[in-house]
Amino acid sequence: MITPLRFLQLCVLSIVLPTTSATTASASMLSGGEDGLHAEILRDEAVARLNQLGKVSDADGYLERTFMSPASVRAASLIRAWMEDAGLTTWVDYMGNVHGRVEGLNASAEALLIGSHLDTVVDAGIFDGSLGIISAISALKVLKSNGTLTNLIRPVEVIAFSDEEGVRFQSTFLGSAAVAGILPVSALQISDKSGVNVQDALRENSIAITEENLFRLKYDPQSVWGYIEVHIEQGPVLEWVGFPLGVVKGIAGQTRLKITVRGTQGHAGTVPMSLRQDPMAASAELIILLESLCKSPKDFLSYDGHCNDSTVESLSNSLVCTVGEISTWPSASNVIPGQVTFTVDLRAMDDMGREAALYELSNRMYEICERRSVSCIIERKHDANAVISDSELTSELKFAANAALKRITGEIQDEVPVLMSGAGHDAMAMSHLTKVGMLFVRCRGGVSHSPAEHVLDDDVWAAGILSQEQGKSTEDLAHVLAELAKSHSLDDKYCSPFAELLLWLKNLTREEEMIELQ
Ligand code: GLV
Ligand code: MN
Ligand code: MN
Repeated sequence: MITPLRFLQLCVLSIVLPTTSATTASASMLSGGEDGLHAEILRDEAVARLNQLGKVSDADGYLERTFMSPASVRAASLIRAWMEDAGLTTWVDYMGNVHGRVEGLNASAEALLIGSHLDTVVDAGIFDGSLGIISAISALKVLKSNGTLTNLIRPVEVIAFSDEEGVRFQSTFLGSAAVAGILPVSALQISDKSGVNVQDALRENSIAITEENLFRLKYDPQSVWGYIEVHIEQGPVLEWVGFPLGVVKGIAGQTRLKITVRGTQGHAGTVPMSLRQDPMAASAELIILLESLCKSPKDFLSYDGHCNDSTVESLSNSLVCTVGEISTWPSASNVIPGQVTFTVDLRAMDDMGREAALYELSNRMYEICERRSVSCIIERKHDANAVISDSELTSELKFAANAALKRITGEIQDEVPVLMSGAGHDAMAMSHLTKVGMLFVRCRGGVSHSPAEHVLDDDVWAAGILSQEQGKSTEDLAHVLAELAKSHSLDDKYCSPFAELLLWLKNLTREEEMIELQ
């Protein structure tokens, strides 16, 4: 973890280190020729594409793209065209995922998969999901322009997954779970609020999903080498420590619930308070219970031995709960509602602890509903266990990033950010298929799932790493990353995942023994 001392060191360094080398480097890198081309692809074009994709929305005035919506279909076409522009062979699969692939010199070698999601939340930012897709495509486009795209040792496939947020069907990872082979056929029958199910939503778009086709979507684990996902951090840590990139060690497990509370609908002016069975007031109490339990799980869990101390400790540090959606019927100011429905999103690093919290929560919710004479139905809509990134992928990245920091500070004990992710990612589903590794990119103010979400343009780093890569193709990963991080930390305004991707892709062009991480 980043200590306060470490944070101070980084702040001081960013103030005292001279910026001339980074400035000079970027000026020369951007001065045209090959370097100019790369900056154009990796910065200008990528940022333009993020903005363009950010306008592909089902709503007027804000960004919303849910599974198989008209805007999602338009976004998929755009992404497919960009993949083809990068020299990839493309297709859309039975779950609406868009794939772009380049074969390796050894066509039977296991493929590296790189991906993220093309759907969004409601009133979303433009980077969540899209950043990982566009950065992968841009990196491959640079290799195409270098003439090295067809020299990759193993196949590389970019996948834009059709559903990670789960907004429309309340069931996340429809796209990546299908590729990983963990999507149950029952998922095809889940309905959205207007009664359209997943299968119908696909068929409306001429995608002939059947149970058999769903099974065909599963990749053979023998054909896959690993999965990498680049993603906006969606939290404040990287910005706090002044570092543009972080390595993701693991992803919290999550559960989504739908709670339906039914009472007695009535007239707001005539039913005495003591005679009401009001599901709205009951819901308010249930939501406060949720907040209290998640703020202080030890007050709810430790006393009767559900959990051992380490589980309670882990929950105290990581349990987060949210009610993000609530609806009432009939929803009028002069009517006591007959029914209230709300969602619960509950996440924790410790799966056993999450189960214990859910158990305790459900029991106490039923007690409240009974006391208030309302009925209470608790449905589990989604579950994903916590995922730990592949240790070798992670330690390669950590080693490289540590070397980078050492070069900046001259000190050996420096630690780069290695983060746990509270946000869910397609990597969770893909971990059922293959080893996964994730890179986080600093975001402004740690804000995400909001139109305020922002990653600053990278006008130095991407071009810098490409120049270095060209001259240093035989040098080791750590050294290249060190150069990259060095120039980046000197110019704290920028962050970009492109260089990381290029680094990985570049690895694939090296001799097999140099790149073998397994
Ligand atoms: C996805 O962004 C999630 O964590 O809900
Ligand atoms: Mn998201
Ligand atoms: Mn995301």
